[in-house]
Amino acid sequence: MKVSETYIQGLYKVDDKEKARLATINATIGKTVYDEDLFMFEGKEYRYWDPYRSKFAAAYLSGMKSLPQIKEKSILYLGVSTGTTASHFSDINTHGIIFGVEFSSKVMRKFFRLSEQRSNLIPILADARRPEEYSSFVLEADLIYQDVAQPDQATIFGRNALEFLKSGGFGLIAIKSQSIDVSLEPEKVFSNQIKELEEDFGLEIIEYKTIEPYEKKHAVVVIKMP
Ligand SMILES: C[S@@+](CC[C@H](N)C(=O)[O-])C[C@H]1O[C@@H](n2cnc3c(N)ncnc32)[C@H](O)[C@@H]1O
Repeated sequence: MKVSETYIQGLYKVDDKEKARLATINATIGKTVYDEDLFMFEGKEYRYWDPYRSKFAAAYLSGMKSLPQIKEKSILYLGVSTGTTASHFSDINTHGIIFGVEFSSKVMRKFFRLSEQRSNLIPILADARRPEEYSSFVLEADLIYQDVAQPDQATIFGRNALEFLKSGGFGLIAIKSQSIDVSLEPEKVFSNQIKELEEDFGLEIIEYKTIEPYEKKHAVVVIKMP
């Protein structure tokens, strides 16, 4: 087994039996979050990061070259769900903070329990369409990560970016075309969403890629606040 650094600080590539996988160093030794496998390497415990359950890992393995750094950042995570991806951000962002916004109280219960074990996770039960509901907690973000699967994904992102994203800060949005318009070709849906982010919110698009086979009809877009 070989474990090597990637261009994302704190994200490791594991070459094992000719298969490349991703992993982070476990911040809660001995504990798993979603039944992922753990392994030891040179005295450290790592957690494999499943690209079929996380669009960030899928985007990296799909070859995206400009994914934003996670380490030592203030991160606003929209659609945090039970915390699968956020738990890996938590492993990496050891001295930063991750505000996890989720509007389903059922899944938020699990994320709340995770946040009791990981002090850099802050649960916020709120609707990401209403940034004013959490503007007193969040203040400013270096990075906004969004994975909400809603018809108005670009609008939700744009409103949060204008409210919280620092100048020079990054955004990463997972766009699910089927949640927006099933009658249009996914490529057309992606380009409409990108156009809205650029023209209605003045955001700069850095990179965009579809992430099959990990997720069908999904694209990940890296955004920068000018
Ligand atoms: C695809 S799941 C997110 C998975 C998660 N990002 C991960 O990788 O672990 C989408 C989540 O977004 C939440 N969601 C959808 N619309 C939302 C909104 N307007 N405000 C807050 N959460 C929302 C859903 O309840 C769901 O838990």
